[in-house]
Amino acid sequence: MKGVAIIVAAGKGERLGDTVPKQFVSVRDRMIVEYSLAVFASSPSIDSIVVVVPPGTSEGLVDRLMSYKKVDAVVPGGKTRQDSVIAGFRAVKGEPEVVLVHDGARPLVTVEIIESVFSEARSKGAAIPALNVSDALKYSTDGISVEKTVDRSLFYRAQTPQGVRFELFKKAIEKVEEMEVVCADEAQMVELLGEKVSLVNGSERNLKVTYPDDLVLFKALLGDISGRFRVGIGYDAHRLVEGRPMFLGGVEIEFERGLLGHSDGDCALHAIADALLGAAGLGDIGKLFPPGDPTIEGISSREILRRVVEELGSEGYSVINVDCVIVCERPRISDYSDRMRKVVSGILGITPDNISIKGKTTEGMGFEGTGEGISSIAVALLEHTGGDR
Ligand code: CTP
Ligand code: MG
Repeated sequence: MKGVAIIVAAGKGERLGDTVPKQFVSVRDRMIVEYSLAVFASSPSIDSIVVVVPPGTSEGLVDRLMSYKKVDAVVPGGKTRQDSVIAGFRAVKGEPEVVLVHDGARPLVTVEIIESVFSEARSKGAAIPALNVSDALKYSTDGISVEKTVDRSLFYRAQTPQGVRFELFKKAIEKVEEMEVVCADEAQMVELLGEKVSLVNGSERNLKVTYPDDLVLFKALLGDISGRFRVGIGYDAHRLVEGRPMFLGGVEIEFERGLLGHSDGDCALHAIADALLGAAGLGDIGKLFPPGDPTIEGISSREILRRVVEELGSEGYSVINVDCVIVCERPRISDYSDRMRKVVSGILGITPDNISIKGKTTEGMGFEGTGEGISSIAVALLEHTGGDR
């Protein structure tokens, strides 16, 4: 047997302070610990995985962890990380060449890191992924003022997985139990035996979720934008009739005819409103303002858009940008587009450079070409910024 991985996930995650221990916090569709399980399962040097969980972990959760490829045991951990590691070690069946211990709270470990720790530990005895310190390093015993600046090139930040040859690991456990010491990690246990621990390249991405900011970083590294950014499309068309003022893009335009509709008939604002509602999954303006509703009779479309923006706000969405096309032969939209963008940006609460409104003709074809009516199409991009959905 080549390598056995012990994933320690028995901590309380007090510094993160979530309602569940951090390794069980869900991000997208998976708990944090499951991310590393999947990576270990696909690493060629790993034959078997032991997961260490808090005592009293539910059967359902244990079953879920057991369902991962190569997971052969899920066992309860202890008070300290070291206790949990030892509990995991005792559950290792057979005698692998190398045992790799990994923090269940480091979800972005890679096969590359696992393989390089494995092969270095196999040939040298023990190996850890480590990183240089990039910030200047200060020494302070009281945490209030700096006593001195130290040479950062002498320091490394240790990550996991930490790999130790099986026999050496066994001796290291005997040593810490005999000395009754609690080590920070497996490397320190090996150091106690006077043995060397090799450094291999870690990665900034292989971060340990410890504080709330780490969770934000993890999500960002994961590219967790699905569900956060949403796009929508809207379309509307109104008939051109005599005897009505023309409103387009929220602007009153001097024209011989106007757009027919329950409201002021502003098809551009309606298309924009529908694009926004569509992006947020809130239906369309017909749902928000049913045509039979007497309160919308003659209502300004600016007011409709305002209410749509309110709806979005209450659902935690903010608008990133809007692009809109107005399809007609006349009036010439470019003469009014700057004013329209200003009006729309005022209602949406974003700058005019995030609103685009342009005109398009159809070379005389169709109802827009003959002047029977005007149509408009819009797309909108929203960001969900208001907490969990
Ligand atoms: N760990 C463990 N058993 C313990 C303590 C920690 O298995 N008794 C695990 C954690 O679940 C984590 C890893 O060791 O995956 C690294 O420990 P740490 O980041 O300190 O996690 P916690 O102890 O859970 O967090 P905190 O110290 O903030 O409470
Ligand atoms: Mg801890």
